[in-house]
Amino acid sequence: MSVERTLSIIKPDGVKKSVVGNILNRFETAGLKIKAMKMVHLSKREVEGFYAVHADKGFFDELTTFMSSGPVVISVLEGENAIAKNRELMGATDPKKADPGTIRADYSDYVGENTVHGSDAPETAATEIAYFFAVTELVN
Ligand code: CMP
Repeated sequence: MSVERTLSIIKPDGVKKSVVGNILNRFETAGLKIKAMKMVHLSKREVEGFYAVHADKGFFDELTTFMSSGPVVISVLEGENAIAKNRELMGATDPKKADPGTIRADYSDYVGENTVHGSDAPETAATEIAYFFAVTELVN
């Protein structure tokens, strides 16, 4: 067990459905501490930079258009095995395959609008956190 940090994004569909508080409550109840948080409306270019690893995928334009369609809530979560714990709370990327009781099973309509993003490994967590937060913004 090790203390990790991970990046979480509550996507535009989650904000529109007013489930931000519910999702943050799931994180905190599971022992994940919110180190930093902000609500922002990202530009398409900012989203393209964040998801650059998917630039060659057929869904890239759909993904970046959706992620820049409205406000998102971005946070840094910290705790024991935070990366895996967050992914467990989120459920599978495709909500049709997500376990009952997970965020995506409860709130997501389909894979393109799957309510939350979470880092998938320590290296990506570090890169993703640095994309949105300066060290001085990790205030908690
Ligand atoms: P996320 O965890 O944010 O990482 C990349 C995102 O691409 C993923 O969640 C999905 O929302 C999206 N994605 C993956 N596969 C597809 C797909 N087949 N069609 C549309 N979007 C997809």
